[in-house]
Amino acid sequence: MVNHNGPIGLLDSGVGGLTVAREIFNYLPEEEIVYYGDTLHLPYGPRLLSEVREFVINIIDYFIIEKKVKAVVLACNTATSAALKMVQKRYQIPIFGMIDAATRRARQITKNKKIGVIGTEGTINSQAYQRSLMADDHSLEVFSAACPEFVELVEAGKFTGQEVENYAHKYLDGLIDVEVDVLILGCTHFPYLIPVLQKVMGEQVQLVNPAVEMAREVRSTLEERKMLKKAKNQQNKISGQQFLVSDISRISQQFLEEGSKFLGLPNLEFKEKNIFV
Ligand code: DGL
Repeated sequence: MVNHNGPIGLLDSGVGGLTVAREIFNYLPEEEIVYYGDTLHLPYGPRLLSEVREFVINIIDYFIIEKKVKAVVLACNTATSAALKMVQKRYQIPIFGMIDAATRRARQITKNKKIGVIGTEGTINSQAYQRSLMADDHSLEVFSAACPEFVELVEAGKFTGQEVENYAHKYLDGLIDVEVDVLILGCTHFPYLIPVLQKVMGEQVQLVNPAVEMAREVRSTLEERKMLKKAKNQQNKISGQQFLVSDISRISQQFLEEGSKFLGLPNLEFKEKNIFV
């Protein structure tokens, strides 16, 4: 029997999934979360999907057995591309992925039916976004670009500046040339870079942050299943929340400073919990 007052587990390879945590705090302020950043295996993007799947199973087992979570969010597009269908079959609790909610939104707002998707190599090569976008609209044109260096920049706490802009041009100029009018941020690390991405793409291009769509979906599903937490979380939003990583030496000081501002979590702190030993 699942405890409805249990936390929601969120997982990512590093600090990217915190952009999803931010939206969960906005849309489900009464809930508690356990966040797990698998920094030991970061980045997930270049890895075999089968390997990512193993990491995801390890983390979900830990969430269920040790943390008694009532639901899990794969707050990582690479993990979603690699494992969502498999873990939804394997576990009884609700498990959410990043992709479908975001593609619904992109389909709604595109006017010229040209949609750009950026993500890790793993996500882009898996074609998961392309499949989801085209599932019921074959007239769409989908253009994609893998942007691996964005993950490293974000982990280092570099969200703005010339280096970020140079990479943004390198990755996005091709999407500007084909005139996409919507760009899906298909990696949870990328919302930290929104000001630069918007500047490079131009104001006429709408950016879709899948985290927002995802948080709405989590709320409505838990509401429908009567799984929302009964007792309100009276504290400020960071207390009662757990932020764990598999290798704390990979959390940069600059990320802690910049990331906590971006996330509105002034006392953001991680604890190391290596579940892979
Ligand atoms: N944040 C992740 C994603 O959404 C993975 C980044 C990585 O580890 O390569 O895909």
